[in-house]
Amino acid sequence: MLRRVAVTLVALARAAPWTPELAHDGTTPWDGPAMIRAELKRSVAAYAARTTAEEARKYAASLARHGDQLCVFLRGRLFVSDKFLDQSKHKKHAAYVLSAHKRVALPNALYLFEKDSTGGDSWPARTGGDPATPLLVISKKKGYGGLGVLVPNPFFENGDVNKWGRAAKALHEAAKARPWESRRADVFWRGNVGNHAPNADYDFCDRDSGNYARFEALSLAVDHPETFDVKCQKCRPRNASAFPCPTDAYDATMAALVDDAAPMRDEAWVDPRDYSAHRAVLNLPGTTAGGYSRNLNHLWVLKAPVLLWDAPFVEHYYPALRHGDTHLAVDRRDALSFARSALGDAREARRLAAGAMAVYETYLCPQCLAAYLRDVYDELRDRFALASILDGGDDPRRFLRSLACAGAPVAFREVVEASDRADGLATAPVDLDPC
Ligand SMILES: *[C@@H]1O[C@H](CO)[C@@H](O)[C@H](O)[C@H]1NC(C)=O
Repeated sequence: MLRRVAVTLVALARAAPWTPELAHDGTTPWDGPAMIRAELKRSVAAYAARTTAEEARKYAASLARHGDQLCVFLRGRLFVSDKFLDQSKHKKHAAYVLSAHKRVALPNALYLFEKDSTGGDSWPARTGGDPATPLLVISKKKGYGGLGVLVPNPFFENGDVNKWGRAAKALHEAAKARPWESRRADVFWRGNVGNHAPNADYDFCDRDSGNYARFEALSLAVDHPETFDVKCQKCRPRNASAFPCPTDAYDATMAALVDDAAPMRDEAWVDPRDYSAHRAVLNLPGTTAGGYSRNLNHLWVLKAPVLLWDAPFVEHYYPALRHGDTHLAVDRRDALSFARSALGDAREARRLAAGAMAVYETYLCPQCLAAYLRDVYDELRDRFALASILDGGDDPRRFLRSLACAGAPVAFREVVEASDRADGLATAPVDLDPC
């Protein structure tokens, strides 16, 4: 027994902690919900407080300059500009807001929503916005210090928390029907690997970090096919001879795979319900810019240990994730030993699978996602004195008109549910008196 514990502890030791975990300095007890709340408060407090109604009004007018990213939630109704829903990720955020409200009664709020997968850091240069302007963001590529306040990514079943709950339940039911002994003793992943050629708009090596991580994992799987069922559907890794990146070198396996991708390719579609045919699942950084990957949303409920490739990007619930408890953090050097430790030992696998399921049940369940949004709204209201301008008065049009007339004109529309439409949403015009 003692021997077994010792072996497990050795297996869980990493050369360095999981990068996002470094935010927890170890001076307070490890408490996931409290750490998520603390990070939310910290990220909101990074922006200057507004305390008077006059300051709040100026603040609202400054947000309205970015009307195509503006959300105004008033008396249970969501108002956006006529351009807001042009973006599919904006639409998913709107579905999140409306479905969350049905569960938790969201208070009035007003904010900018930024959909970029890297977070808010690119926002000032892209939009001419002031970096001191608060934004809600879906991820931060370089860790908690990036610009913005984290909210869930839009891919929890396209934003609708109730549909998400049903989808997660279906995945979990499929997983329950597959006892550990019956599963394939390997680590599963499917996705694409692409590349970003040199481009005047960005540092392509930095932008390729997710593709590099994916390619590292894919090549590891080619070297260790008995441990990793990790394959790409579309496989176009960067050609390092033509486009070298100094810190992202290739080994011999990777170099050979650039010439012939066949050993890592599997074009067949695998339904997420079948991921649980495997004993463990892997998450890898995103291909677009090396940030979060929507794949992870689905992995926590599979009754399987979750392996997270170590990278600095964070999402709203990451403060509660801990290596060896909710997941195993892996990189190219230690992925093989961690994979073997998770695959070979039924007890260890069960412990990690329970840790993963607790992530869903505590932070990602429909009620959890809804309650988190209410926490975000409450923090914004406190920090920016929003109650002084949003609460009171029963016709939202009065406030919308004052906003539309304060600065850059915004043509508002109300987002409403439309069960006859595939995305479940439509918009209705909001008639405002001329300024
Ligand atoms: C990679 O780039 C080198 C140098 O430009 C070139 O000779 C080679 O054909 C390229 N390989 C592939 C698979 O495109």
